[in-house]
Amino acid sequence: MMDAVFFGAVILQVLTSALCFPNGAPTSACVDMMPRHGGTLPQPNPAPYTIQPSSTTFQTGTPITVVIKGPDYSGVLLEARSGSDTNAIGTWQTPPTNTKFLACSGNQEGAITHANINIKNNSTLYTWIPPATAKSVFFMATVAQQRTVFWVNVKSPTLTQSGGGTSLDVNSSAERIATPVLMLLVVLLANVQCFVA
Ligand SMILES: *[C@@H]1O[C@H](CO)[C@@H](O)[C@H](O)[C@H]1NC(C)=O
Ligand SMILES: *[C@@H]1O[C@H](CO)[C@@H](O)[C@H](O)[C@H]1NC(C)=O
Ligand SMILES: *[C@@H]1O[C@H](CO)[C@@H](O)[C@H](O)[C@H]1NC(C)=O
Repeated sequence: MMDAVFFGAVILQVLTSALCFPNGAPTSACVDMMPRHGGTLPQPNPAPYTIQPSSTTFQTGTPITVVIKGPDYSGVLLEARSGSDTNAIGTWQTPPTNTKFLACSGNQEGAITHANINIKNNSTLYTWIPPATAKSVFFMATVAQQRTVFWVNVKSPTLTQSGGGTSLDVNSSAERIATPVLMLLVVLLANVQCFVA
């Protein structure tokens, strides 16, 4: 009986491991930005990556260029967000080579993910168009060096709408506590897909 259970668990693990996503993150990853590897946890922060936007301010409709600096990477999920809202905002322009759009928050061009596991690096430029509504935004990414080596919650500094007042993120300390707990739950509950085969 125990053998049958064990065997079943092994089969399940093999099946779930086969359901990886070398072609990019699925829409189910839009909110938590978490790869679904069988039992693989994110690397501890701080990540060896930083997100560098071309400006600390933005204006509606004026493109912002974003670079992910650090070691070469193969998997990515990149979104712009505002405050504690988990919706991906604004629109990305034509994805750079080896990447593609991911529809998030009902926004066809709301996020970028990898299209394959070819190398991306600090020459990979992402271009984002700010929406009319946000007063402040930041960029948030999950970056994978390989299938089992990835960092979540990589964030850029906050950009403010030029002309608007400065915005203080009063919720950031609550986020810092809530996020790891949420991530742990997500890891425990969802182990079906992953970013990079
Ligand atoms: C902080 O969180 C509250 C409730 O979750 C929200 O109403 C408010 O807009 C947030 N403020 C910022 C600056 O994100
Ligand atoms: C980035 O990767 C591309 C494609 O692999 C390569 O052609 C380019 O030289 C790399 N750039 C840097 C700065 O490493
Ligand atoms: C880009 O990456 C290359 C290779 O890792 C490094 O030599 C170079 O200094 C980086 N460029 C910038 C602008 O960070």
